[in-house]
Amino acid sequence: MSEIFDALRRWPDVEAPGLVAVDAADRLILDESAELRAAARSGDIVVINDAYGALTLGAAHAGASGIRTHIDAITGERALEANASRVGLTGHFRSVPLDAELAPGARIVLLRLPRSLDALRDIAGLIAAHADPSVVVVAGGRIKHMSVSMNEVLSEFFGRLDISLARQKSRVLLAREPRDGRDPSPAAARVEGLELRAYGGAFAGARLDIGTRLLLEHLPDAPPGGTSDDPLIDLACGTGIIGAWMATTYGGAHVYACDQSAIAVASAKATMLANGIESRVTVARDDMLGARPSASASLITLNPPFHSAAAVTDLIAPRMFADVARVLRPGGQLWCVWNSGLKYRPLLERAIGPTEQVARNAKFTVTVSTRR
Ligand SMILES: C[S@@+](CC[C@H](N)C(=O)[O-])C[C@H]1O[C@@H](n2cnc3c(N)ncnc32)[C@H](O)[C@@H]1O
Repeated sequence: MSEIFDALRRWPDVEAPGLVAVDAADRLILDESAELRAAARSGDIVVINDAYGALTLGAAHAGASGIRTHIDAITGERALEANASRVGLTGHFRSVPLDAELAPGARIVLLRLPRSLDALRDIAGLIAAHADPSVVVVAGGRIKHMSVSMNEVLSEFFGRLDISLARQKSRVLLAREPRDGRDPSPAAARVEGLELRAYGGAFAGARLDIGTRLLLEHLPDAPPGGTSDDPLIDLACGTGIIGAWMATTYGGAHVYACDQSAIAVASAKATMLANGIESRVTVARDDMLGARPSASASLITLNPPFHSAAAVTDLIAPRMFADVARVLRPGGQLWCVWNSGLKYRPLLERAIGPTEQVARNAKFTVTVSTRR
């Protein structure tokens, strides 16, 4: 196994010393499922939340075929494809959305536990609704990211739960006897006069983040752009709250909302439908603004992703600002809200152009940067 693991990379996600493509939890999930997988037939195995392909390709390398795999982040899905061709294992799996197509008939599910309990509830319910009654879910993670509440969520949908011994700060939960399954449905709330929809694990859930609130309070009265050729862009849209707000506040405006997360995109699409603005808002799953032409946009909004791993935080924002700079036309504006402690202003000045502070409270700063 280790010979293929050595070849796996995180690319196109950020890469840096200390950021790995395979970790001890991946190895434990594979080891704990090895006996079960040895008896598997084609199509028996489903993988959910693989990070960069270690679980899918580890199973394929051991002989599995017909694997259905779902990765929330498009960068993870693309890394899996790149890793598969690097180790010669394309064709052993296919990527499937987190919906009723994913788990029918599954007998073995390899699951990297999500951090969000609501995301775990959606996944566990989906497996219980569609997998074979004999299914075994081998769910693992780093102990520091696990909690006993995860056992409780799994116990809502499985009659039997066994817990592995810890190894290298990782642990596996084995869930059997599926029951009470259900397809995911989004949480719903009315926020700032908008209908908001959030599947489990979407940023802030069906609520308005306080940073996002500060940004909405200060967006311009009459923004540039907003035509079908030059839509207002809600980058890293999460549930789509900023995009939905712009489409309803700026009557008739066209909006493009994008996020790399499948959960976010499903939530944003549901938000637009619930507000009856789906014909004016395009929602896309993409890594940053990959599908947008250069020098094409007049206005982009952004509440950038924040990760607790410092190395990731330091690498993501400059990448996003560089892509924003590529997509803005000269004179185009980036409206950005950020945690004041992150001191993004020099980065914004360098990547995009002159940057003014529009608002600041105890925690957040809102800036507008104009593309030079
Ligand atoms: C702080 S949340 C903001 C969500 C929403 N705009 C709001 O204000 O509620 C950041 C979002 O960035 C998304 N994200 C992270 N990396 C991304 C990438 N490379 N490309 C696009 N979106 C990304 C995350 O999935 C998450 O939904």
